[in-house]
Amino acid sequence: MHPLSARIHDRFERHGVDLWAAREPGASEASQLHCELTSESYERIFRELARLGGRSGLTDLGAGCGLAVALAVGGRTFRRSFGVEVVAARVAAANEALRSLGLRKRAVVALGSFHDEGFAIETPCALSVDVAFARPELEALARALEASPACRAFVSFRAPRRWAAAGLRSYEPASSARAATSGGERFTYTVYVRV
Ligand SMILES: C[S@@+](CC[C@H](N)C(=O)[O-])C[C@H]1O[C@@H](n2cnc3c(N)ncnc32)[C@H](O)[C@@H]1O
Repeated sequence: MHPLSARIHDRFERHGVDLWAAREPGASEASQLHCELTSESYERIFRELARLGGRSGLTDLGAGCGLAVALAVGGRTFRRSFGVEVVAARVAAANEALRSLGLRKRAVVALGSFHDEGFAIETPCALSVDVAFARPELEALARALEASPACRAFVSFRAPRRWAAAGLRSYEPASSARAATSGGERFTYTVYVRV
């Protein structure tokens, strides 16, 4: 485990509550399930995104407890990282962990939903660990991506036909590979680029 991952998980354990059990009404139940990648998988994905979109910034769409947001700047691939997350307890834990790790000036997680009016992505790179996202989340994200010319490359675990069905038009698949979750599962992700 990456030393930063270990420190972040250590911080979360101190909360004494299961942050992954929390649910909010602003998103589908299935979309709020736990899934984090291994540090090695995040790092490989970040390198591919940075090659296509540059190193200035990454947005994590559904930031969970902030692991990807922290690793994006802690591993020095990106200068800034942002996360949007609908579960308030996870947002608070993520920002507390970022602060304690000295990363808070370069990384932040905001409370919000893809369904929020006017939600858009302002960084050139984005990540969506959307293995369990339900159709309403994909449709809301497709609308946000269409309205986000700043986002040049994003990684998703959903196949091109799913995104097409959700209404995505301005991105096309560039490559795909496998990534491992911290729970030992393996999923295929696709890198999409704006056309
Ligand atoms: C699989 S977790 C992602 C973990 C995180 N990306 C990481 O890699 O560490 C997916 C997250 O997306 C959040 N989510 C689901 N629907 C959302 C929505 N409509 N708006 C914002 N966040 C959402 C869930 O609450 C959950 O924490």
